[in-house]
Amino acid sequence: MRNAYISGTGGYVPPRVVTNEDLTNEYGIETSDEWIQQRTGIKERRFAEAGVGSAELGAKAATMALENAGLKATDLDMIIFATLSPEYHFPGSAVFLQEMLGLCDAGKFVGCLDIRNQCSGFLYGLGTATSMVKSGAAEHVLVVGGETHSAALDLSTRGRTVASLFGDGAGAVVVSATDEDRGVRYWKCGADGRFKDALSQRVWDIRNRPFIPQDAEGNGLVDPEIMWAHMDGRKVFKHAVTRMCEAVMEACQTTEVFGPDIDLFLFHQANMRINQYVAKQLFIPEEKLVHNIHKYGNTTAATIPLLMWEAVADGRLKPGMKVMCCAFGSGFTWGASLIEW
Ligand code: UT7
Repeated sequence: MRNAYISGTGGYVPPRVVTNEDLTNEYGIETSDEWIQQRTGIKERRFAEAGVGSAELGAKAATMALENAGLKATDLDMIIFATLSPEYHFPGSAVFLQEMLGLCDAGKFVGCLDIRNQCSGFLYGLGTATSMVKSGAAEHVLVVGGETHSAALDLSTRGRTVASLFGDGAGAVVVSATDEDRGVRYWKCGADGRFKDALSQRVWDIRNRPFIPQDAEGNGLVDPEIMWAHMDGRKVFKHAVTRMCEAVMEACQTTEVFGPDIDLFLFHQANMRINQYVAKQLFIPEEKLVHNIHKYGNTTAATIPLLMWEAVADGRLKPGMKVMCCAFGSGFTWGASLIEW
């Protein structure tokens, strides 16, 4: 039977470390290391330099994933890029990445798809890639989650609730065909559009005429209210734990693979407390959870592929292991996937 498995993983975070103290000392935000750590588990995050975007971060992660898969970029049949921080409003980051990987120069004009599903974007992408590979439509699909949050955070006291949470980075996997009895066993995504405003960065509203208000000279005027991300943190927290518990339980029931047989849980890194709460509800022992939020903050679409890359690199994630992934975020959207590595 044709299966889809993860043949290579890669990750990249920009070198500049911004600690919780730096948010106060460098940006003048009224916050504290204690507040951020207690509420979220975050100690520091990475910020990319001006001029660097999500596709560039993604290209570094993708190059590593291809190398680890023993493949060349020209072996790819498709690129899927999950991000909420694309270079432009359109086109998406996947075509930037395609060019950076040298595919245009090589005359390999593979399809490029951007996924706009925020924190669960990578799992939506993984599910799409899995279906493409299993159906025979593709042999190798690159799935990247990459974010450059630092450029679009309100790094002031006004924006501290959101700005203290997010960081930059990218993770990538190659999903490949195999006849071996392994790979992505299950994926399912969900959404609840009633909460589309609970975590959003509108920037404009296309229903308005003009879609961005203009001054007399025709220059666009964006109100800070919609320019920066807005989050009803408590509402997000409450729904995150409920939906994540449900998504993991449904995955277990459908696959008939239950907690004790699952080796690792790779949960989206929005808040250490959300993941610990979910783990407690589902009787998941702490040693089966993998975290990176303390050092990278919330890297949105990049959290799970970064966890995969690090867990493979440090030997925690090995072939044959069963891995449960789960994410929840803006939309609200969520997803779960069970992988036999
Ligand atoms: O991946 C995307 C999904 N996002 C999430 O999953 C986030 C889910 N939500 C959360 O993680 C939490 O709601 C937060 C960590 C964002 C906030 O924690 P909270 O305990 O819900 O705090 P809060 O928003 O209710 O704010 C409590 C207080 C407020 O002050 P007052 O009004 O009580 O005087 C805030 O102004 O904490 C203040 N505050 C801060 N203080 C210091 C908010 N942000 C900060 C900050 N530093 N960075």
